[in-house]
Amino acid sequence: MKRFVLAATAAVAVLCVPLSAAGDAAAGKALYAKKCAMCHAADGSGAPAMKKKFGDKLKPLASAEVQKMKDADLMKAFKAAANHKAIAKGIADADLENIIAHIRTMK
Ligand code: HEC
Repeated sequence: MKRFVLAATAAVAVLCVPLSAAGDAAAGKALYAKKCAMCHAADGSGAPAMKKKFGDKLKPLASAEVQKMKDADLMKAFKAAANHKAIAKGIADADLENIIAHIRTMK
């Protein structure tokens, strides 16, 4: 009996792990309520006092303008906002990823 050893060219399907691992939206929701909602409102539309103060600078988080931003850009925008200086220090990147996952549920 002949046996043909087939040199199988293994087509290795490399599962590309996304660079920005999707965060945990449920954990992010709780954090958002604690750390962000006082300025951005629970639904991301902006707390009335903040809207009055910042007007169009405070974009609704559910808006297309914010939603079209990549996770990494949202993270950058969050860190760059002057109004976030005090809270940004207390939020780890992993927490921010979870919060961003929650923000994605607002659209
Ligand atoms: C003290 C009030 C305040 C808190 C608390 C706050 N933000 Fe903001 N945030 C702002 C203001 C005001 C702006 C827009 C103006 C600016 O650039 O500072 C902004 C901007 C942003 C932006 C950029 C999009 C935009 O509206 O321009 C993101 C994203 C954002 N905030 C997310 C968050 C998240 C997530 C948290 C909670 C971890 C948070 N913010 C907490 C006041 C706040």
